[in-house]
Amino acid sequence: MINVIDNINSTNTWLTEFNLDFFDSIISLEQSEGRGRQGRFWESSKGGFYYSLVLPKKNLLPIVVGISVAEILYENGITAKVKWPNDLLVEGKKLGGVLCQVQGEKVIVGLGINMTNSSSLEKSISLSALGFNIDKLDFINKFNDKIRSAMEHSDEHIIQQFLNYDCLIGKRVSWEDGSGQVVKISEDGRLVVRDSSDDLIFLTEEVHLQ
Ligand code: BTN
Repeated sequence: MINVIDNINSTNTWLTEFNLDFFDSIISLEQSEGRGRQGRFWESSKGGFYYSLVLPKKNLLPIVVGISVAEILYENGITAKVKWPNDLLVEGKKLGGVLCQVQGEKVIVGLGINMTNSSSLEKSISLSALGFNIDKLDFINKFNDKIRSAMEHSDEHIIQQFLNYDCLIGKRVSWEDGSGQVVKISEDGRLVVRDSSDDLIFLTEEVHLQ
């Protein structure tokens, strides 16, 4: 079931409060306490896309979500990249992001996309600034369909698809206590980076492009 609401604290938080079925979801026109990764605040004024759904746990799920969104955008004429694991970038600027929260056997997946809203983040972009307009309910239907079929794909297939949208491989990145050059995504979804000692580091934390 898709729940539609005009305002809520956070669509992710709302889903965690009920024992819902897989693919139950909620879209809100705005959020008063939108949440980003690593405890950050997610600006959620009217005009943006704020959607969360319940999915079964699956290996590489954050990557699956990023690819699914990038594919829909591509089908609408928008060339988006996915910055591992699931930041959505257009022209190097942040168009949207994904917040995955594990809850037992379920994962609450929250997706935020800048549509006609404007973000105060310095390096952000919106669909309207790019000259695009996407119907939110149409987007949800396409997204749910993509996710349903991607859940059946093998890990190798998912990693292969991810390479079509990746923007980090070959680039220099830094993280909390190191830096290096991105080599690949491992089969279990970690970012593999070669550091200055030629060691391979398998990262699960966010990285910054240098
Ligand atoms: C990020 O930090 O890049 C992830 C942002 C995720 C924001 C979305 S908006 C819908 C859902 N509800 C939330 O509170 N957060 C996610």
